[in-house]
Amino acid sequence: MIVLALESSCDETAAAVLDGARKLRASVVSSQIAMHAPYGGVVPEIAARHHLGAIRPVVDEALERAGITLDEVEGLAVTNGPGLIGCLLVGVSFARALALERGLPIVGVHHLAGHIASGWLECPDLPFEALALVVSGGHTAIWRVPAPGTFVQLARTRGDAAGEAFDKAAKMLGLPYPGGPVIDRLAERGDPRAFHFGEVRIKGELAFSFSGYKTAVRQHMQRAGIEALSSPNDEPPQAMVDLVASFRYAVVRELLRRTRSAIAERRPRSLVLAGGVAANGLLRSEITKLADEEGLALSIPPLRHCGDNAAMIGLAGLPRLVAGENELLTLDASASLPLGGPEAERRSKRHR
Ligand code: KG4
Ligand code: ZN
Repeated sequence: MIVLALESSCDETAAAVLDGARKLRASVVSSQIAMHAPYGGVVPEIAARHHLGAIRPVVDEALERAGITLDEVEGLAVTNGPGLIGCLLVGVSFARALALERGLPIVGVHHLAGHIASGWLECPDLPFEALALVVSGGHTAIWRVPAPGTFVQLARTRGDAAGEAFDKAAKMLGLPYPGGPVIDRLAERGDPRAFHFGEVRIKGELAFSFSGYKTAVRQHMQRAGIEALSSPNDEPPQAMVDLVASFRYAVVRELLRRTRSAIAERRPRSLVLAGGVAANGLLRSEITKLADEEGLALSIPPLRHCGDNAAMIGLAGLPRLVAGENELLTLDASASLPLGGPEAERRSKRHR
């Protein structure tokens, strides 16, 4: 089945063409990062307006790279939440109009189900049950994936997501936006043991929190007399480089600590690392070591599939389309779409 997939939940307009689950024919991503950089974060109105202008050309380019026309598309998958509502609506409205006009089946895909599915793009035989560590700008969570398309949340963040923590720490230091990749690059030449970041203690064993680390960055800046850069292009002093290396080390240590507990609790067969922060060099190498130690199969998507893209949305939607699902009459965008079944509900109630 040939599926056209769309993603527009935040600041990337993306389209992909899949020909069955094992063949990604094209994946096109148009990023707006440069447009939001002067504001130090994504501006929802600007993002939605950009999606409106970009979606048609991005879809056309994906079809062209796949070497097909719209006539050959047999099904549509589109991110319908969670995300910025104005942005989600662009993708959902566009896909629904196409579905109506062409009489095609359409399914809405949860953005995180997409990120988790990215683990199977390069590794289609990755065994179940899998544990997925999803780390992005908006989410930090560990999901149990007992079977394709089934998700149970084991841990989530209280407060800032990991990517958000990177972005906010960078902002405090006067470093450019988005902070994650900048800190990651700088940290390579810093001393991760130069500054102390204590372990995070939270009641209820499996949860993340990074807000303490933000405060710690500020305190270390004050104590060590590190001033924010006056221009993002200035060369940071070595003390700042050491501080970001220590911060990156602490965030990755937290992510790994919770993942280790989740492995001990679930004894899964495989691990997936997904989301924008999965691009982090230290996180990639540490999780590789962890999977080796635990004897688990591991999938870390290549960088192009870590950030938002439509290939992952297509892969998550494809089995449902193949099974005959069609949401044409009910599909809607939702800024806060839930993911997971009744077991996840029960669990989250217990941990409240
Ligand atoms: O998944 P994503 O593209 O968008 C969301 O759904 O949020 O993730 C974007 C986040 C940003 O916070 C960015 O700073 C972070 O991923 N990020 C990184 C790295 N590359 C991107 N964080 C740490 N290290 C990186 N190399
Ligand atoms: Zn994302």
